[in-house]
Amino acid sequence: MTVRVAISNQKGGVGKSTITLQTAYYASEKGLKVLVVDMDGQGNTSTKIAGREAIENIPTNTTLSVDMFKPENQIEEITVLKGSYGIDLIPARINDDLLYAQEAAPIETIVNPSANLERIADNYDLIIIDCPPSLGRLLSAGLIMADKIIMPIQVSGFAVDGVGGLFKVVEQLQDIGKEDLEVAGILINSFNARSKQHHQAVKALREKVGDLVMDTIIANRSPIDQATNQAKPIWEIRTGAARLARAELTDAIKEIFKRIGIKYEQ
Ligand SMILES: Nc1ncnc2c1ncn2[C@@H]1O[C@H](COP(=O)(O)OP(=O)(O)OP(=O)(O)O)[C@@H](O)[C@H]1O
Ligand SMILES: [Mg+2]
Repeated sequence: MTVRVAISNQKGGVGKSTITLQTAYYASEKGLKVLVVDMDGQGNTSTKIAGREAIENIPTNTTLSVDMFKPENQIEEITVLKGSYGIDLIPARINDDLLYAQEAAPIETIVNPSANLERIADNYDLIIIDCPPSLGRLLSAGLIMADKIIMPIQVSGFAVDGVGGLFKVVEQLQDIGKEDLEVAGILINSFNARSKQHHQAVKALREKVGDLVMDTIIANRSPIDQATNQAKPIWEIRTGAARLARAELTDAIKEIFKRIGIKYEQ
């Protein structure tokens, strides 16, 4: 069975790509076959998974995420890029103007990436779709490719804002035929345990959306930032409070697996 999960939040810098990467590394380490689809025209995740040079020199036969918007019969074969740690990738270029331009493409094209993905989905146990920080057509196309959504959020001040926007989009997509699409978990990231405001904000969020808020909370920890920047699994970072960061992040990933229905050998 293939599980398709979108990592999504319209806000920038909340940890979507970090969670995408580390979940992909962990799943791959556990022997699952993983595909990452980069729907963000920044191309950050792609450069992390395949290396900057590879993304600057993508072979012409590789299927880019922007190509996925073509009607099925216009792509002969879907060819993925081979990334690090055994992860396959449908990449975005760095500052991918063609991908950004899909925001203005005809509305009916938003279902094409999903249809195209189905052609190769059976090759994978887990497909992770890293979504852009926006509420436009790229996001909708990314969500339509998914069955489950994990939403990383960051607390700012007393509030956790921006949660409603994604839920609205999900409802709209449910109304047009994606009945089974669901937010499987809200993951609080970059939490500051010393901040009263952060605790208050999380409490308020739990009161509002209940069990959707994941039990595992990820603190702001420099080894997590290092892991993302060095494009390495958290368990390969040895500096600082790496042990704590690793425990927290892997707990979060295990909870994500549980929430999206991934089974694997512990
Ligand atoms: N728990 C954490 N502790 C420390 N740094 C973190 C943590 N989570 C993410 N970061 C750092 O915060 C920055 C933003 O994270 P990331 O790129 O994953 O966010 P994003 O939601 O994908 O951003 P964008 O919306 O621009 O795509 C990165 O430099 C990352 O290393
Ligand atoms: Mg990102």
